[in-house]
Amino acid sequence: MLLLYVMLASALALCDALVSNPPNIVLIIADDLGWDDVGFHGSNEIWTPNIDALAYAGVILQHHYVAPICTPSRAALMTGKYPIHTGMQHGVIYGAEPRGLPLSEKILPQYLKELGYKTHLIGKWHLGSYKKEYLPRHRGFDSHTGFITGKIDMYDHTNAEKGMWGFDFRRDSAVAHDLFGKYATDIYTNEAVKVIREHNGSVPLFLMVAHSAVHSGNPYEPIRAPEHVYDKFNHIKDRQRQKFAGVLWKLDESVGKVVEALQTNGLLHNSIILFTTDNGGAAAGFNSNAASNFPLRGVKNTLWEGGVRGVSALFSPRLVSNSRVATQQLHISDWLPTLYGAAGGDVSILSNIDGFNQWETLSKDLKSKRSSVVHNIDENWGIAAITIDQWKLISGTTYHGEWDGWHNSNRRDGEYKIDLIMQSTAARAIAKLGLMPDKNKIMSIRDAASVKCSNDSVIICKPLEAPCLFNIKEDPCELRNLAESEPEILHKMLTELSEVNRTVVPPNNKPVDPHGDPKYWGQLYFNFGDFELSNSNPTGIKSCNNS
Ligand SMILES: *[C@@H]1O[C@H](CO)[C@@H](O)[C@H](O)[C@H]1NC(C)=O
Ligand SMILES: *[C@@H]1O[C@H](CO)[C@@H](O)[C@H](O)[C@H]1NC(C)=O
Ligand SMILES: *[C@@H]1O[C@H](CO)[C@@H](O)[C@H](O)[C@H]1NC(C)=O
Repeated sequence: MLLLYVMLASALALCDALVSNPPNIVLIIADDLGWDDVGFHGSNEIWTPNIDALAYAGVILQHHYVAPICTPSRAALMTGKYPIHTGMQHGVIYGAEPRGLPLSEKILPQYLKELGYKTHLIGKWHLGSYKKEYLPRHRGFDSHTGFITGKIDMYDHTNAEKGMWGFDFRRDSAVAHDLFGKYATDIYTNEAVKVIREHNGSVPLFLMVAHSAVHSGNPYEPIRAPEHVYDKFNHIKDRQRQKFAGVLWKLDESVGKVVEALQTNGLLHNSIILFTTDNGGAAAGFNSNAASNFPLRGVKNTLWEGGVRGVSALFSPRLVSNSRVATQQLHISDWLPTLYGAAGGDVSILSNIDGFNQWETLSKDLKSKRSSVVHNIDENWGIAAITIDQWKLISGTTYHGEWDGWHNSNRRDGEYKIDLIMQSTAARAIAKLGLMPDKNKIMSIRDAASVKCSNDSVIICKPLEAPCLFNIKEDPCELRNLAESEPEILHKMLTELSEVNRTVVPPNNKPVDPHGDPKYWGQLYFNFGDFELSNSNPTGIKSCNNS
C-alpha cells in the first residue's frame, strides 16, 4: 500500500513537471523611480497606464525593500545577498574604477543557465567593467545590448562623471556606434521585442530589461525624452517634472510593448514579470531627476523609506491569487531564491545567502519568510538602518541631513485616467488571458496601495545626534520618532544591529584609476584593465585582449 502510494506520488510529480514548463522570467528594472511616480500608488500627475495594468493584474509589492543606490541594489538582486556581505555597500562603481561585483559570487543568470534558460541583458549593468571577467557576458548572460556604467545621456549615450567623459553603449563586445542619437528607451524596447520574437520556446527565457530611465543623464541636459512626449504633460508646470513625465511615459510604453510581445509570441501565460525600481527617486539633491517619493521621507541614497521602499509589482498567471496588494516584507535579495525556486531549481543549494524563497508567500498570500531587513550599514558614511517586524531603527544620515525631508508634496494633483489603463497595450494583452480586473476592482486596489499619513504629533528625529525609532506600520512616513518613548525596543534594535554589524565585509571600493579615463581609449568606457597604456604613445593601445 505504502509502495503504491509512493509510486503514485512520484508519477504525479513527474506529470506535474511535464505539464508545467519552467516559466519565462522577465525583470524590468526602472532606475531611480520614485514611490509616487506611478499611478498605482496614487499619483494623478503622471500616467503610467501599462505599468499600472501589470500591477493591478498582478500583485503590488507594498513592502518591497531595495538598497538605497544603484550598484548595491543590483548586486543584491543578482547575488541574493545583502551588499554588506559582498563588500558592495558603499556607493556606486565608477566607469574608471578598478573593481566589480566579486568574481567569487555566482549570480542569477548563471543559476538560470544551469536550468536551461537563455539569458539576455538589455540596458544597464553597473556591476563592474574593469576587466572582461566582470562583464555581463562572462557572468551568465548570453547577450548584452546596453551600457556598463551607472548612467548615460538618453541620446548620445555618453557618461560624464568624475571629471571624465566617454561613450558607453555596446552590443555584446562591440561598440554600438550605429545606435548613437537613438533614444535609449526605444533601443531597449526594440531589442526586447526582437529577443522575445526570436526566442525558441522549447527552452525558457530569462530577459532582464534594465532601463536607463528615469535616471538623470549628463549635466548639459539631465532629463531627456522625445519633444512630442512632453506635450502630453502640459498640465505639469514645473518644466523638469514635465520632462521627467516624458521619460517615464516612454518607459511605461516599453513595458506595454514587452508584455504585448510576450503575449503575441505565446510566452505570457507562462511568464513571471517583475517590475521594480533599483532604489528610491532622486527627488532632490544628488542625481536629481524630479522624481517624487511623497509622502515617504527622503530620497535616493538615504535610508529613509523614500530611499529604500521600492516601487514594485509582480505579474504572473502562475500566481494563485492575483489582483491585490501584498503587504509582506520583502527584500530585493529575495528574488534570487524566489525566481530560482519558481524556475524549478533546488533552493537548498543556495547556501550563505540573505534572501528567502518568497514564491509561495506571494502566490498564496502567506506570511513572509523574513521578519527583518538590513537596509545598510556603511561606516564610510556613518549610516545604518534595520527593520524588524514593524520597527525601524535609523542611525546617522547622508548629506548632513539635507535631503531628509518630504519632497514634492504637491505631486498628486490631476486626474486619474482609468480608461488609459484599460486601453493600454499591456491591459489588452493581459485581458486576452482573462486576467485584467475591472475598474471597480482597480480603484479599490489603488486605494489600498496609496500611503496616507497624518502629520499630527510629529516627534523630531535628529539621526546625526542619536538613533531614531519608527513604527513603520503606523507611521510609514517616519514622522514620529519613538526612540525616547520605546527605550526597550530601541535597545533590542541596537543589539540586533551590532550583531549584524559583526558580519559586515569591508567595502571593496577602489580609487578611480586615471588609466581608465576614456580620453586614453578613443573616448570609450570599457574593460581598460585588460590593456596597457604605452608610455611612448599614451593614447595608443599596446596589448589587446578584448572580450
Ligand atoms: C527550437 O529548439 C528545438 C530544440 O533544440 C529544435 O528542435 C527546433 O528546431 C528549434 N526551433 C526553431 C524554430 O529553431
Ligand atoms: C509634514 O509636515 C511637514 C512640515 O510642515 C511638511 O514639510 C511635510 O511635507 C509633511 N509630511 C507629510 C508626509 O505630510
Ligand atoms: C560596527 O563595528 C565597527 C567596528 O568593527 C564600529 O566601528 C561601528 O561603529 C559599528 N557600527 C554599528 C552600526 O554598530
